[in-house]
Amino acid sequence: MTFPSPRATLSYSSHVEGATMPQSPYSRLDPPVRTLLGPGPSSVPPEVMAALTAPVLGHLDPEFLKIMDQLMEGLRAVFQTKNRMTLAISGTGSAGMEASICNPLEPGDVAVIGVNGYFGGRMVEMAQRCGATVVTAEAEWGRTIPPEAIEDAIKKQRKVKLVALVHAETSAGILQPIAEAAKLAHRYGALFMADAVTSLGGAEVAIDGWGVDICYSGTQKCIGAPPGLAPITFGEAALEVMRKRTHKVHSWYLDVGLIEQYWGAGRVYHHTAPISMIYALHEAVRLTLEEGLPARWARHRLHAGALQAGLEAMGLTLHAEASHRAPMLTTVRIPDGVDDAAVRKALLTDDSIEIGGGLGPLKGKVWRVGLMGHSCNEGNVLLFLEALERALAKQGRKAQSGAGAEAASAHYRRERKKATA
Ligand SMILES: Cc1ncc(COP(=O)(O)O)c(C=O)c1O
Repeated sequence: MTFPSPRATLSYSSHVEGATMPQSPYSRLDPPVRTLLGPGPSSVPPEVMAALTAPVLGHLDPEFLKIMDQLMEGLRAVFQTKNRMTLAISGTGSAGMEASICNPLEPGDVAVIGVNGYFGGRMVEMAQRCGATVVTAEAEWGRTIPPEAIEDAIKKQRKVKLVALVHAETSAGILQPIAEAAKLAHRYGALFMADAVTSLGGAEVAIDGWGVDICYSGTQKCIGAPPGLAPITFGEAALEVMRKRTHKVHSWYLDVGLIEQYWGAGRVYHHTAPISMIYALHEAVRLTLEEGLPARWARHRLHAGALQAGLEAMGLTLHAEASHRAPMLTTVRIPDGVDDAAVRKALLTDDSIEIGGGLGPLKGKVWRVGLMGHSCNEGNVLLFLEALERALAKQGRKAQSGAGAEAASAHYRRERKKATA
């Protein structure tokens, strides 16, 4: 963005003699076009960008309420649930996380939370802020948490109210199995909650089929809208627990009992809905369902396979456990002697590609490459592998020219042959 030079002589006079009106300190917004291949946000499809520009309606306009009802239906389809209480919280994925935690948990409750990455740690922090005692079931960042570790953690407590796991751990590139952990939680009388911020729309998330009681997501990853809303769903068992609360939910804004009065039949004002973001999500969910969930999951698997084959052909090492790699987020180890920040900067400035750096213990150790939603396509895989080769060459790390893109192309040929066989 360029800033205007001061134009003191062009100042406007106001009704007060001798006073001047302030002028904008910046010129018209003009952000660059990037290829977003980081941990989110992902690139937004043009149809969703167009929805953002639709006329703003009032939040109680019957036409807007219709759009909300349609969105709830669409979200139920994407979450694969019949849950009545399925809506979009105003706020990013973290607002969904906080709503999922602060509505069921009260001071003195016990929660078992899986931690194999940064976002599991964030859930712990939020549950503790609700006054809950948190017991963790942990695994190394890049490994799944075994069901035995979850059961051990539950068994050590007299009564666990909530068991929570992150489905796709964006910090580590792991896709954590969910169904067995949900069964375990129920066997011990606890609710089960899953974070699907990164997975929803890019890998199967089967709320009813897996027995998930509470699940939340975000708009900016595989769903393909800008950041700003958190799709969320609560099953009957979770609602029953929430009805029996003895303390008010400490957050007024995220109290889903109040939010539901607006999204449900009552249409009682709670807060002004972010109208344009609801349009965007409405369109993104429509596109997701138009593509078809299985086709969309397959697309994420296909391009992840090509990217990962390409990275390995360049002599790089993938960080996450091979059997449980998240298709939408690949963690790749930074080779010794290569400057993390310099490579990311070269990708951004030379090729306008954004990827992510590592978080927590993986800071400086891995890059995080996202292929999410609209960003997940063959063109981006090949563009990135070629750009990374150039960025690494600048660091003196020469690979066989074109090896990454060639291996990715071979992967596409193999997979397409299999599909037509
Ligand atoms: C797995 C996971 N959970 C929660 C969040 C938090 O979402 P947000 O940054 O949209 O608040 C993220 C964000 O990257 C995430 O990847």
